[in-house]
Amino acid sequence: MPGPTDPVTTALSPGGLDLDAMRSDVRRGLSQPQKELDPKYFYDERGSDLFEQITRLPEYYPTRAERALLEARMPELIDEIQPASLVELGAGSASKTRVILDAMTESGSAVQYVPVDVSAEFLEKTARRLRDEYPAIRIDPAVGDFSSDFHLPAIERRALFAFLGSTIGNFSEGDAVAILTRIAHQMRADDAFILGVDLRKDHAVIETAYNDSAGVTAEFNLNVLRVLNRDLGADFDLSAFTHRAFYNAGLHRIEMHLVAKTPQTVRIPEVGDFEFLAGESIRTELSHKYDRGTVATLFDEAGFCLEQWLSGEDEAFAIVVGSRRWNRI
Ligand code: SAH
Ligand code: AVI
Repeated sequence: MPGPTDPVTTALSPGGLDLDAMRSDVRRGLSQPQKELDPKYFYDERGSDLFEQITRLPEYYPTRAERALLEARMPELIDEIQPASLVELGAGSASKTRVILDAMTESGSAVQYVPVDVSAEFLEKTARRLRDEYPAIRIDPAVGDFSSDFHLPAIERRALFAFLGSTIGNFSEGDAVAILTRIAHQMRADDAFILGVDLRKDHAVIETAYNDSAGVTAEFNLNVLRVLNRDLGADFDLSAFTHRAFYNAGLHRIEMHLVAKTPQTVRIPEVGDFEFLAGESIRTELSHKYDRGTVATLFDEAGFCLEQWLSGEDEAFAIVVGSRRWNRI
């Protein structure tokens, strides 16, 4: 029996995930009437690579739209804020981040970049690449899950916090408010925040972005089953599930599912046995689409002031600039 002062050892997946937490998440998700899985489990190294491929697909407009906005608006915004550090949640490959780091370098304020991501191996790869590209900026990666309390290294102030790519859209309203609140709590009075959000538009354009003709999104979707097979020893037969993504107009969101082609039972050691009817699905991802009113509500509930709403002429995407609201007693 470990004594009270012995270190607690946590079994981790190859990607650095806590396996006990993963087992209880998966048990909870697959026991719901609508089976579901947390989208963070897409992002092992292969999943992160597949997401990178998605960002380059002709159908997937959000990355291009956000990059264009960052290129158009960041130089002026960075000149205004003069941040010494950039703290980025869910950084991934940080490909668009370079636009911000370039603007910080240009304005002479850049000292530190802190990418935060749950995907440990991919984060380390990103950090190595950025150290080569930006030798004058200190790169301090932090492995963390923003769905629970995450820890940051010492941050140079003034800091710019960034949550790009509309990753906020992958969470329910309650979880999104909780994540934004956690970010707000890491901020000081004169720090700034930018949030990237995908906007409501022609439903066909949105649906096509999640049903690409090359099938990369389908591979990305199925990757979550590979992760469960590898990390938890599950016996999902990937060929027995099919990708489905559709726009739920009432709830303004894409829903991504994996649909069982035939009735089957899946066994996950130390988690359970899960029965599937033919046509029954696991909901693997939500991707909410926003308008200004819904973002204003999220900001308000999380303790942010909405300072600026930056969107292009096509109104495809928005960068929302916020500051932490301080309630005086
Ligand atoms: N910001 C990049 C990547 C977006 S993909 C872009 O805009 O292109 C979403 C990223 O968030 C992935 O790198 C994934 O590993 C990370 N992520 C997903 N859920 C997470 C969580 N709960 N905590 C921390 N990172 C998470
Ligand atoms: C990371 N996230 C914002 C992407 C999205 O559009 O919701 C993930 C994705 N899923 C399918 N394609 C891209």
